[in-house]
Amino acid sequence: MKKIKIQNKTLNSFYPIFIGNRILNNVANIAKNVCPKTNKIAIIYDINVPSKFLKILKNKFNKFPLKFIFFNPSEKNKSLKSVNSILGKLLKFNLNRNDLIISVGGGITGDVSGFVASVYKRGVDYFSIPTTLLAMVDSSIGGKTGVNSDYGKNSIGSFYQPKLVLVDSVFLNSLDKRQMICGYAEILKHAIIKDKNFFNWLKSNSKKIFQKEDLNGVVLKAIIKSCLIKSKIVSKDFQEKKLRMILNFGHTFAHAIETESKYTNKINHGEAVLMGILIATTFSVKKNICSIKTLNEILEIYKNNNLNYLLKKTNFLKINRIYPFLKYDKKNNDKRVNLILIKKIGKVTEPGLYKYSIGQIKKTLSNFKLS
Ligand SMILES: NC(=O)c1ccc[n+]([C@@H]2O[C@H](COP(=O)([O-])OP(=O)(O)OC[C@H]3O[C@@H](n4cnc5c(N)ncnc54)[C@H](O)[C@@H]3O)[C@@H](O)[C@H]2O)c1
Repeated sequence: MKKIKIQNKTLNSFYPIFIGNRILNNVANIAKNVCPKTNKIAIIYDINVPSKFLKILKNKFNKFPLKFIFFNPSEKNKSLKSVNSILGKLLKFNLNRNDLIISVGGGITGDVSGFVASVYKRGVDYFSIPTTLLAMVDSSIGGKTGVNSDYGKNSIGSFYQPKLVLVDSVFLNSLDKRQMICGYAEILKHAIIKDKNFFNWLKSNSKKIFQKEDLNGVVLKAIIKSCLIKSKIVSKDFQEKKLRMILNFGHTFAHAIETESKYTNKINHGEAVLMGILIATTFSVKKNICSIKTLNEILEIYKNNNLNYLLKKTNFLKINRIYPFLKYDKKNNDKRVNLILIKKIGKVTEPGLYKYSIGQIKKTLSNFKLS
């Protein structure tokens, strides 16, 4: 089992991420150490996570009054309406401020549960058990919580840190390939923004990740490496004042794609991120910020791993239709769109240095087609 610390320098506090295989069995001991005052526990449980884990949790926490709240995750259900419904159930259960909320699920369940924990009685202890690859390597780390609105992805939310994150690769056994690709998108993003060696390692190991060939070796290594990159960045800039924005590479376009497609299942978050990475890199080439060689290196990974299907899949999207949504990006602080661009593999631009009007972006990408 590997333990990584996320440090909040401003508050002089930290929380641990435990990573390993079959570590769910230790969940009760870990919870007892981290949240000793807990009397009652509410578990917000993603309905698609196999029920055998629910039985394990029931068994491990059999000394506590326990309430399971089942959640059906979708970008549509990532809403204030769901938050309201969950809050009602917690109030009825009379969970109090010393108690604990645990999220068991993918990124959507985690983002919604974290937000609920942050507003319930002005904040209760919360810990996260991510069950998708994306949630393990990205969304469970760093304390961003929230829900979508008609104006954009995650446009309503809070920064709220969990007491701990428990990443158990055993959950990946039941995850389908599309969801593995989704998590891979954020792993690839971490390599592109910060670590050329990791990027090179991914070149020869990506297939093994998609096929879950070596869950306790290659996949666990990719998870640990990714968590280390994200935790280091987040620790330096908890509230996304500046540096943390580099984690948003590709996401300005990705979020606009998701919003324009009205959060349908036609394209999921990771697929949109993979498209967003390509659009941001193409934009960087057109602005002479990176060379065509960098774009080709990234494209080679897509080609070698059959990710080019995404280009066809996004046929239904028209690039012109995504532009209006760029103005709602949370990194923007004036009328222009604040883009993170790429200089070379392992190095992106400093946040705030490259801002463009929607007209300028449109013109730069005028020949670009999503398909
Ligand atoms: N908070 C952050 O910092 C952050 C970072 C990146 C992404 N996100 C958010 O994360 C969300 C995407 O997360 P996601 O990709 O995990 O999607 P998701 O939560 O929708 O999960 C994907 C699907 O897998 C199912 N699932 C979950 N665990 C499973 C398991 N073990 N076996 C089988 N099926 C399982 C879910 O029910 C769902 O159908 C987006 O809303 C995105 O905005 C947040």
